Amino acid sequence: MTDSVQALPALIDASRHEIAATASIDDLEQIRVRLLGKKGSVTELLKSLGGMDPEARRTAGAKINEAKQALTAALEERRAALESAKLAAQLASDAVDVTLPGRGQAIGGLHPVTRVRRRIEQIFRNAGFTVADGPEIEDDWHNFTALNIPENHPARAMHDTFYFGDGRLLRTHTSPVQVRSMEQSKPPLRLIAPGRVYRSDSDMTHTPMFHQLEGLVVDEGITFANMKAILHGFMRELFEKDVKMRLRPSYFPFTEPSAEVDISCVSCGGSGCRVCKQTGWVEVSGCGVVHPNVLKAVNIDPERYTGYAFGMGIDRLTMLRYNVNDIRLYFENDLRFLKQFA
Ligand code: DAH
Repeated sequence: MTDSVQALPALIDASRHEIAATASIDDLEQIRVRLLGKKGSVTELLKSLGGMDPEARRTAGAKINEAKQALTAALEERRAALESAKLAAQLASDAVDVTLPGRGQAIGGLHPVTRVRRRIEQIFRNAGFTVADGPEIEDDWHNFTALNIPENHPARAMHDTFYFGDGRLLRTHTSPVQVRSMEQSKPPLRLIAPGRVYRSDSDMTHTPMFHQLEGLVVDEGITFANMKAILHGFMRELFEKDVKMRLRPSYFPFTEPSAEVDISCVSCGGSGCRVCKQTGWVEVSGCGVVHPNVLKAVNIDPERYTGYAFGMGIDRLTMLRYNVNDIRLYFENDLRFLKQFA
């Protein structure tokens, strides 16, 4: 018998210890390959049988096969133990605690600016106005020229316009919808046009994109007094309060005469607070009688028809309605803020 065959019991013994100590199936596999793989030590011994005489081959063969069986059994046993330990660990870590409370499903809500816009639309619909729409990418004619703001007019400078390379622009106000509406339909016209507008401006009360609402009424015999009544009625409906309203003379190129609309502060009722800067009044709109040049630009006879127009900031009205004084909060989409309006 060769020395290697003699040493088999020692090899079995040492291997059993090693197998018992393995912590992973990968390590176990390495041991199997080393002993019983194609070039494993026990396999090599079996190959050497061919060179022995028959007598020696029989005894050595029996011993080697015994060793092979013993090692296979030890490997199998350890593999089964490791596999069941692995499964147990996995089951423990994947365990679902069915007693935990559910995560729940948050209910979405409309954005506060959307809520106020819809509310405004409803109030004006009730007063017989239609809701009109226009493009956010405008041309110079509709945004400026047709509104009696010719080139080099100083009012253009106040608009901080975003221009495209081809001369088109992001509308700086919703007033171009006035022009488009009058191009499309002839008087009588009674419409509002809510929408996004853009100016290169950003601070606590300005964002580069904001929302405006345009109003336009054109017919025979329309007066400044009609406008005042509609605007006051609207403010009282919107804020659900008996707000006072005052008009201050102002200037807009597209209206003459023009006015700025103030209402009594909805936060303090007029006694003076931070919102109204202690004046008791907050500015909410610009308005006026449509300038004859604007009517002429769309081929409406200013001798026959008159009209009024107004423009207001929807975001600003939203801030007043919900008493939030930083406009940027409305556009950061922080759920902690938005959820309060759901
Ligand atoms: N377009 C003006 C602006 O953006 C707002 C405005 C004022 C609109 C008076 C009007 C108006 O229609 O009559 O500042």
